[in-house]
Amino acid sequence: MARKHNSEVLKELKYIKKTVRPLSDNETKKSILITGSTDGIGLMTAQYLKSRGHTVIGHARNQQRANDLYDILPAIDDILIADFTQLSEVEQFAKDSQRFKNFDTIIHNAGIHGGTNLFSVNVVAPYVLTLLMDKPKQLIYLSSMDHGWGKYNLDNIKQNKVSYADTKLHIAMIALAFDQAYPEIQINPIEPGWVPTNMGGQGAPDDMAISYMTQVNLIEEKINYSGTLLVDSKPVKNPNSTLLNPDALTELMDYLAERTGLTV
Ligand SMILES: NC(=O)c1ccc[n+]([C@@H]2O[C@H](COP(=O)([O-])OP(=O)(O)OC[C@H]3O[C@@H](n4cnc5c(N)ncnc54)[C@H](OP(=O)(O)O)[C@@H]3O)[C@@H](O)[C@H]2O)c1
Repeated sequence: MARKHNSEVLKELKYIKKTVRPLSDNETKKSILITGSTDGIGLMTAQYLKSRGHTVIGHARNQQRANDLYDILPAIDDILIADFTQLSEVEQFAKDSQRFKNFDTIIHNAGIHGGTNLFSVNVVAPYVLTLLMDKPKQLIYLSSMDHGWGKYNLDNIKQNKVSYADTKLHIAMIALAFDQAYPEIQINPIEPGWVPTNMGGQGAPDDMAISYMTQVNLIEEKINYSGTLLVDSKPVKNPNSTLLNPDALTELMDYLAERTGLTV
């Protein structure tokens, strides 16, 4: 059965459709893949980019959610399907993505807030996809201001004792490690503010646009950063100090390489 979309997100989709103008013929249109685009920030980003005339490939955890996405955003160009709690489905997603040539941008947006699959969905899936998929020109990873109180502790990771905040630190760490490994790709982790999606909750204080405009501004080359944690299109002033610790970044990447069998 079709699942209702978040009502605040629906309001923002209406606003985007009403106000966003398409790019002119002499402006560059890009091709973008967004994971977790069935609701929330991924869906609003997809709607904005479609309203501008870019090519957008979405992602849903299963066929029903893909149908829900086609219902709400019929202009979406195609949808890949994979449940990111299942490593085999993540690997199949990477294979399936080969039918699309040369993404300009991949946004690793899908995420969960709790449960035993936190590390698998929020960290392992984007790590595996980054290594298995053809490399785009630009990579964006959704972190969170919560990364600031997240902890990096390898023993806790091995025992699957991680919090949401920890995984949002880890995703920023792997984004920065990938940035060092692939200097030819523009790679940034971003904080999307705190907005009232299903995950953010009804009382979230920030304006919805903060959650997707950094991605849009990177894609449309209105801002130009690489290897920088961004919020509201600007560098985060006081990121978690672990992000400045190269030994921690290397240790986490080595662990992920050992766990997945995939190296940079
Ligand atoms: N909202 C905020 O204030 C906030 C703040 C900081 C960071 N973030 C980050 O921003 C990203 C998007 O968050 P959001 O607020 O838009 O959350 P959301 O509304 O809950 O949307 C999450 C998206 O990820 C998908 N997803 C979750 N688990 C999945 C799985 N196992 N396999 C495949 N897809 C899965 C969801 O699919 P379904 O629709 O099928 O559930 C949905 O499309 C996340 O990475 C989150 O950590 C959000």
